[in-house]
Amino acid sequence: MTQVRKCVFPVAGMGSRFLPATKASPKEMMPVVDKPLIQYAVEEAVAAGITDMIFITGRNKRSIEDHFDKAYEVEAELAARGKLELLELVQGIIPKHINCIYIRQPEALGLGHAVLCAAPVVNEEPFAIILADDMIDNDPAVMQQMVGVYEQHQCSVLGVEEVPREHTRQYGIVQTDGGEPGAVRAIVEKPRPEEAPSNLAVVGRYILSPRIFHHLASVQAGAGGEIQLTDGIAALLKEEKVLAYRFKGVRYDCGSKLGYLQAMVAYGQKHPEVGAAFSAYLKSL
Ligand code: G1P
Repeated sequence: MTQVRKCVFPVAGMGSRFLPATKASPKEMMPVVDKPLIQYAVEEAVAAGITDMIFITGRNKRSIEDHFDKAYEVEAELAARGKLELLELVQGIIPKHINCIYIRQPEALGLGHAVLCAAPVVNEEPFAIILADDMIDNDPAVMQQMVGVYEQHQCSVLGVEEVPREHTRQYGIVQTDGGEPGAVRAIVEKPRPEEAPSNLAVVGRYILSPRIFHHLASVQAGAGGEIQLTDGIAALLKEEKVLAYRFKGVRYDCGSKLGYLQAMVAYGQKHPEVGAAFSAYLKSL
């Protein structure tokens, strides 16, 4: 049985919805309480047994590489001041057995193009994709749930969730055969509500067969003038089975200001250090 060992994190996007915060620093480094979004995403992949983290980065994204690297100055400073708990925290951001691989995407040509940039590193293996701005809170983590589905069915798996019809324009929308997990019959990128085949949206979690690269190499620019991952998946499902899995968990769309604030409230309330005080504060409002 092939294992899912690699995860692609497309992090080259501009983050225009959070300007000016994202003018000089990546949106994936925005913190929810005290950890950046990208760290939650990597932790989810680690929990799913994935060992190779492949970041598709671009200009202005150096701080992501630094975040997962050794930080000599900070570590020396913490050690000198005897702040051993913090030192452990900084050193433990990524477990020792994890490999971080960085690939630069020179131009932001779309999510499909970003994923295609990972082809030389992924090779002929099934692989995961996590979009860090979709935070999903649950135990077991969503990617872990999806690896379970993959192991059972040995085919591509998309994480899906029902969204209000008026929101179909923000997502890749699938039509399935109604099973659980459902076999995907069709997938469309950002359809208008009246044209959407359903209200089941793909939300930033994928396990894909390496055959996707073949299709991504030939898809034309689609919605928004970008090379869309969704269009690659649409071509893939004509020759291979693709499942839509309704994950268990609460999703926060941290690509939007409202979703980001909601994540901050949810994670703030259960934070071991400030959770109780923060909850009390919210109640007092
Ligand atoms: C991307 C995908 C879309 C998916 C969404 C999930 O869109 O293109 O199919 O539903 O992520 O968050 P974006 O949010 O980058 O516009």
